[in-house]
Amino acid sequence: MNDVFPHANSNMAPDEQANQGTFVREQWYYALPSIALKPGVMLHRIILGEPVLIGRSENGKAFALSDTCPHRGTLLSRGKFDGHEVQCPYHGWRFSTDGQCTIIPSQTSIQKPQAKDIRTKSYEVSERQGNIWVFIGKGTSNLNSEFPPVPEVPALGDHFQLHVSLRFACNIDLAVIGLMDPAHGAFVHRSKIWRNEDSIHEKRKAFSPLTENEGIGWRMDRHKASSNSKAYKVFLGSAPETEITYRMPSVRTEHAQTKKYEYCGLTACTPVSAYETDVHHVMYWNAPGGILLRPIVRHIARRFLDQDRRAVTAMNEGLSFNPPTMMVQDADTQTRWYYQLKREVLAAQAEKRTPRNTLKPVTLTWRS
Ligand code: FES
Ligand SMILES: [Fe+2]
Repeated sequence: MNDVFPHANSNMAPDEQANQGTFVREQWYYALPSIALKPGVMLHRIILGEPVLIGRSENGKAFALSDTCPHRGTLLSRGKFDGHEVQCPYHGWRFSTDGQCTIIPSQTSIQKPQAKDIRTKSYEVSERQGNIWVFIGKGTSNLNSEFPPVPEVPALGDHFQLHVSLRFACNIDLAVIGLMDPAHGAFVHRSKIWRNEDSIHEKRKAFSPLTENEGIGWRMDRHKASSNSKAYKVFLGSAPETEITYRMPSVRTEHAQTKKYEYCGLTACTPVSAYETDVHHVMYWNAPGGILLRPIVRHIARRFLDQDRRAVTAMNEGLSFNPPTMMVQDADTQTRWYYQLKREVLAAQAEKRTPRNTLKPVTLTWRS
């Protein structure tokens, strides 16, 4: 890459800056791991600023409704759920899991409205590989081809091992950038065992755009894992070959493979509000001792995520003073791609067309 970006506030297009923190709708967002939602349970979440009730019927199917009662706005999730219908805690209106009102206790049979006239918003839900995704956008019923593919790991989907998540006090963009930044490892995840500044060396990695079926994003092509990524050895015993994809709006997957074992990771950012973002990390692996390893892996994964959280929080605080910033060559290229593709996705939505993946295959070089 020969382009030089000496000064970011001048090299960021005005609409790019305007897009800072903008939510990208019409997308699947990670809600919670399947294991956190038992039959007969309903939970409250805020996704892209919308209050969402997520529940699981007695028959095992996950569903999601707007969590505000159409009557007077009370949170439905504070009411009751009998495994079939949700009952508002205020005046007892009941709703089936597709959002249809079934009873308005205060109404006589001739008063308007009647239950059949009332519907609350329902969201499309997809449950895959141990993860529950909610579609935030206009789509409300019957999955069809207009929905983008639900994010999945490329292998080991039936080997769900664990999920960790942390809330980052920043907008979606800063949280996402943390997932793709290649140059922070030796400083943010500094460790005597894993790596430190002395382990920094030059890296060359080939990148290619995702195919149309995969979505809008890019792939760091399969390559031998770096010698300072010792974390892999915990799972796989030796240094693997690894491939990383990043897909708009906020999903990163990683697939690492040795001759014997595999590991997959899925990281997804879900905006809560303009100021808070939930970062979820899900791990799958098939090396022996999977279940026994869980507590230690959970501890390490949470620590890693918390290190990223603190780094991003420090950046967020600094940026609140609106300082001039810059993006350097290659090491910041993925961050630029992210903004470029976000701009394209938002423009395509506004113009009611399919977004174009504007990236080209390229090899990037940096030290980390
Ligand atoms: S506010 Fe929900 S029933 Fe009245
Ligand atoms: Fe990190």
